[in-house]
Amino acid sequence: MIDQKIFSIIDEERKRQEENAELIASENFVSQEVLRAQGSILTNKYAEGYPKKRYYGGCEFVDEAEDLARERLKKLFNCEYCNVQPYSGSTANMAAIRSLIEHGDTILGMGVDAGGHLTHGYKLSFSGRDYNSYSYNVEKETYLLNYDEVEELALKIKPKLIICGYSAYSRPLDFARFRKIADSVSAYLMADIAHIAGLVATGYHPSPLPYCDIVTSTTHKTLRGPRGGIIMTNNPEIAKKVDKNIFPGIQGGPLEHVIAAKAVAFYEDLQDSYKDYIHQVILNAQAMAKFFIDKGYSILTGGTDNHLFMIDIKKSRNMTGLECQKLLESCNITVNKNSIPFDDEKPFYASGIRIGTPAMTTRGYKEEQFIEIANYIDEIITHKDDRKYLDAIKEKVSELNKNYPLPN
Ligand SMILES: Cc1ncc(COP(=O)(O)O)c(C=O)c1O
Repeated sequence: MIDQKIFSIIDEERKRQEENAELIASENFVSQEVLRAQGSILTNKYAEGYPKKRYYGGCEFVDEAEDLARERLKKLFNCEYCNVQPYSGSTANMAAIRSLIEHGDTILGMGVDAGGHLTHGYKLSFSGRDYNSYSYNVEKETYLLNYDEVEELALKIKPKLIICGYSAYSRPLDFARFRKIADSVSAYLMADIAHIAGLVATGYHPSPLPYCDIVTSTTHKTLRGPRGGIIMTNNPEIAKKVDKNIFPGIQGGPLEHVIAAKAVAFYEDLQDSYKDYIHQVILNAQAMAKFFIDKGYSILTGGTDNHLFMIDIKKSRNMTGLECQKLLESCNITVNKNSIPFDDEKPFYASGIRIGTPAMTTRGYKEEQFIEIANYIDEIITHKDDRKYLDAIKEKVSELNKNYPLPN
């Protein structure tokens, strides 16, 4: 009674992960221990509610695991209250927004094409359907956030909530400035640090916690944990609302196996070696971005201070993001196409590609290996119609990756 089909699919996926250079900025490779916790018998347990206040019996051990996850998370981000139950970054954002404002209120977040996330007010998402959503953009010339423009828009539309924190922005955020803007219109301020959480936890990016009413994140990107979400705040009243909005507001039984895996990841993130890892992630992104700039590619904002950067591939090499993504995929290099601000391509095609270093840094790549891959990317694009040449590069990428095995 073994489902051979699914297990052979998993084997194929493992082979793909092993052979490919994984440059998707939102992905990572978890440790054996994170995987072990997530694949454990904790998946058998129902535990609606919160530690010591459950609606089911037999919760003494999952209570301990969830308490540990909460304590470690609070230590990691130096915050007072947190909820580790969100199934994903998106449900974390839904609960966070519901904890601050009412249905129909006005929200102001960054547009998706500018680097924001769907849950920050995109029209087809709950956040654009349930709320009166407006979006701010980056500056056309520099692709940088222009805080004066955000302020001007806020003064005009008077939002009840301003959201900052992005999926494709490579420069630091000034949370104090956002707080000032929010205060000037009596709005709540929420930061979604899904991407930069690892940098915030290790001090390589300023923390939003002193300035924001709520901070949300995913746990599976730079934090290198299982797929899931978290919510943090220093305000006890907001914390109570968050708990109610997660359960029973949006979710039912928490995924206690995932929460245990989150606890393991937070334990790992509290070690000194994790700080070194994040530092290397940033050095690697900067080295790679510099290589592309030297080769004449157009990099948004002219570089990066974090784990990712964006290439305007249409402007650089006259191809769409989709075309570039497919071409690289055919040579064992995985990236994602990404709209760029003011994009004239539809999101399905996009003018940009987004490149991130967290995943391959986990596998041991340093600047040298990232530059080797960057060089292959340039060669692949230059020889895009020469399949023989491309196959030779594909082989070189897999050969390189044999020296950098998955940690799990
Ligand atoms: C900034 C940001 N917030 C939220 C999310 C949503 O996370 P999930 O995919 O877990 O729903 C993402 C994921 O890409 C993100 O980049």
